Amino acid sequence: MAGISGNDELAIGIDLGTTYSCVAVWKHNRVEIIPNDQGNRTTPSAVAFLDNGERIIGDGAKNQVAMNPANTLFDSKRLIGRRFSDSKVQEDIKLWPFKVIKGRSDTPKIVVTYNGERKEFLAEQISSMILGKMKETAEAYLGKVVKNAVITVPAYFNDSQRQATKDAGTIAGLNVIRMINEPTAAAIAYGLDNESDIFGKINVLVFDLGGGTFDVSVMTIEKGGIFEVKAVAGDTHLGGEDFDNRMVDHCVQEFKRRWNKDLSGNQRAMGRLRFACEKAKRILSYATWTSVELDGLYERIDFSMKFTRAKFEELNMGLFNKCIETLETCLSDAKMKKSCVEQVILVGGSTRIPKVQHMLRDFFDGKELCKSVNPDEAVAYGAAVMAAKVSGTIDKRVQDVLLHDVTPLSLGVETKGCIFSVVIPRNTPIPTSNAKTYVTVYDNQPSATIYVYQGERSKSTDNHLLGKFEIFGIPPAPKGVSHVMNCFEIDANGILTVTASITSTGKMKTLIISNENGRLSKEEIEKMVNDAEKYKHEDQEFKKKAEALNDLEDCIYNMKNKIEEHSVKKSVHHEILQVMKKVIDETTKWLEDNQGAPFAELHLKKVHLEFVCKPLFNV
Ligand SMILES: Nc1ncnc2c1ncn2[C@@H]1O[C@H](COP(=O)(O)OP(=O)(O)OP(=O)(O)O)[C@@H](O)[C@H]1O
Ligand SMILES: [Mg+2]
Repeated sequence: MAGISGNDELAIGIDLGTTYSCVAVWKHNRVEIIPNDQGNRTTPSAVAFLDNGERIIGDGAKNQVAMNPANTLFDSKRLIGRRFSDSKVQEDIKLWPFKVIKGRSDTPKIVVTYNGERKEFLAEQISSMILGKMKETAEAYLGKVVKNAVITVPAYFNDSQRQATKDAGTIAGLNVIRMINEPTAAAIAYGLDNESDIFGKINVLVFDLGGGTFDVSVMTIEKGGIFEVKAVAGDTHLGGEDFDNRMVDHCVQEFKRRWNKDLSGNQRAMGRLRFACEKAKRILSYATWTSVELDGLYERIDFSMKFTRAKFEELNMGLFNKCIETLETCLSDAKMKKSCVEQVILVGGSTRIPKVQHMLRDFFDGKELCKSVNPDEAVAYGAAVMAAKVSGTIDKRVQDVLLHDVTPLSLGVETKGCIFSVVIPRNTPIPTSNAKTYVTVYDNQPSATIYVYQGERSKSTDNHLLGKFEIFGIPPAPKGVSHVMNCFEIDANGILTVTASITSTGKMKTLIISNENGRLSKEEIEKMVNDAEKYKHEDQEFKKKAEALNDLEDCIYNMKNKIEEHSVKKSVHHEILQVMKKVIDETTKWLEDNQGAPFAELHLKKVHLEFVCKPLFNV
């Protein structure tokens, strides 16, 4: 990971969420959450492509989703670092209104129509567009270019998902100075906010249930700012979106029951339904019932349905139970009794669901839950503190923050018979390294292929294949005699490097997670960086054009009105007025026929009209 020069360079913290993203910066000795151009402190993680060549990111994209479902992309975090054949990806595809196809090496690609053309994007590119928007938001606020950033990832993300997120940062033109886990970032926010209440060392549990992912972290916070993670557990495919999906399913069934019609194939209807269900879900966090009302939902049928909190809970009980089971695993991995947990910190929008809070409180025998950190902003807050620390801010509170995180999933290699041999067990503190030696399995074996997996299953192929590589040049010898040592290293970002070496000769080879493993090559990233610049340029051009169109319309309108004014008619010669009127009419007609004209032409028309009509302004 690239270092950064000088400590006067600003660094931002970005929480890249499944549904919402948030950016923050350390300024004037405190964290500031940066509002976007709409004044909102979080920005929807959505990107829309329009037929007229416009690309919208954030609030605007979310607001037009029902009109343009096939070309409005969200949930890129649910795709990033996964393979197309992943069962979770296959399940999601059925629910997404946009199209996802299988690309090279089983990578998923999203297909949209943009500017009348078919375009394919990787999840990294869509995430990079959101990161780019967060970068711009920060730049507009700070009034300077920002390059350095800390990006957060779910604690339970595997290596592929982490690497791909880092690539997304690079494509967005960011220098990713550190990646940290979301619950750890939230704990930093808690720790700094409650400094005076922390005596000695306290045990905390961070329960982070967001839009797409669920993380639990058991950790200790020590006065003075030492954060030590004991264990993490989670599910990178469990969150608010799943609760929405259950509600949508229920409505589809109800529609079928009432009208005997299946609306699930209609993307627009499904998009509207999803939007309405998410809204209803939020209402059910403070009201015990609400209704989902959609006029002309499908085949002009109006849909209206009462939704109770009890129904919502019933539909999602299985998922809520899963959260509690994961919580138990995490505590047991941390070897901590629940009675020893002093603070339960709630993070993520979905922790506002009353049932989730009840279940948690019950689990901890009636203990009050800590809601002092803002569940939508805590992650970005912690990321900003870390960004300030890494970039050398002198504030003592920041400098004293020390993070000791763990690796969420076991890492190892495949041995004979598809047996997974663990080299670094899950919940090992990072950075770390460990090596294991393996022997050859047949006589005169010249090379060894090393398959690197991540996961908890004993059969290697049930885990996530991170990559494979081959080492040649093993000296001839009977089986079991030659040794190959595999050394695993995890850096502070949680990113892995594997090196194999032949013990007798010292020959070494390092695993480069490459194309065939679904990872982007350096050249591909470079190309995507250029593409991202191109899109940005196109966005600017589009904006310029839209403004020129608006200016010309304004100008025509003003001239039309001006020419009718009494004082003008009195003082400007009739013939001149006729000429002006003719030009105004011509320009009006031209504009009707040339809505898609380039900026220069639009601008020229306006200049011409203003020139002709100049005498009007001397009146
Ligand atoms: N009052 C509420 N009641 C229920 N759910 C809510 C409420 N407010 C927000 N949510 C849900 O919380 C989710 C968004 O939370 P958050 O912003 O923490 O997630 P995220 O950061 O986008 O996702 P992740 O961290 O999983 O990648 C959405 O699914 C939203 O519907
Ligand atoms: Mg989140």
